[in-house]
Amino acid sequence: MPGQHLTDKNLALDLVRVTEAGALAAAHFFGRGDKEEADGAAVSAMRIAFQSVHVRGTVVIGEGEKDNAPMLYNGEKVGFGDGPEVDIAVDPIEATNAVAYGRPNSVSVIGAVEKGGMFNPGHSFYCKKLVVGKDAADVIDLDAPTKVNMQKIAKAKGKPISELNVFVLDKPRHVGLIQELRLTGVRVHLHSDGDVAGAIMAADPRCSMDVLIGIGGTPEAVITACALKGSGAQMLTRLTPLSIEEQKSLDEDGIDYNIVRGVDDLVTTDRCYFAATGISAGEVLRGVEYHGEYAVTSSIATRGRTGTIRYIQAWHDRKKLSTMSTVRY
Ligand code: FBP
Repeated sequence: MPGQHLTDKNLALDLVRVTEAGALAAAHFFGRGDKEEADGAAVSAMRIAFQSVHVRGTVVIGEGEKDNAPMLYNGEKVGFGDGPEVDIAVDPIEATNAVAYGRPNSVSVIGAVEKGGMFNPGHSFYCKKLVVGKDAADVIDLDAPTKVNMQKIAKAKGKPISELNVFVLDKPRHVGLIQELRLTGVRVHLHSDGDVAGAIMAADPRCSMDVLIGIGGTPEAVITACALKGSGAQMLTRLTPLSIEEQKSLDEDGIDYNIVRGVDDLVTTDRCYFAATGISAGEVLRGVEYHGEYAVTSSIATRGRTGTIRYIQAWHDRKKLSTMSTVRY
């Protein structure tokens, strides 16, 4: 029987097979304008793939109670059931609209953390985020004016502010922020969805993106923390309820939403593993591509203890895949 504790085994390598399954299933519905179908296919493919992973997993961040999701819901037990106990954050399709409407940066993602080591966002849907790579990790301050942060980040990266690339979700709530950013002279990149991919881009020195700033999903922030753990990159967050109902729920749960939480507050142990597979193409990961008999996936697998990042390309024989699933690849 496999060990009951997280040993040196890199669980991320097993999780990649699960995110590959999710991405392959979702990509079949790319650009078809139907997000429910894409999501359903990814969820069931991942749930099946999870059964071969030797963990006793509990979904802490899943498809959410609010959707009455039948699978990968919060609290669901996942994995083969014979390994270490881990908390799981899973998003079969992060940026569902991007898959449905043919846009970039959608990924299938899983974070797994030693039991008890993952911040549970509870009823918090939104938070403010500021993400940078290792080279600027020590200079950011969530409470500093936008201009000051941008100046300090540019200085830390050794480039003029006019060459700083900043990822922002293109949402009405960001109109003021976008104006402020443009006044500083940075290059503002607007994206309709996908701030997990945006954050990974900002953190990854191979990418041209330097910063992610703005309000996005809280579950997505915890997933991002799993990806950044151990890399030296930083993400500062503050829960930011956007509705009275959300604020009331946080008050009822006694959650302090003035606290600034960084990567190490969102994931408190370095027994942390992350896997992501691109569905639609982005700067970090290519999307699923079809080459004759093969479907090709691009993934990353990271682990907190060592900070190792693995880039994995897999060529999947489409005929063999289709015998294992009801989804046509
Ligand atoms: P989904 O995968 O749930 O569609 O989330 C996409 C996303 O763009 C996230 O990347 C981001 O954190 C969140 O939505 C922002 O929420 P909203 O679209 O409500 O502003």
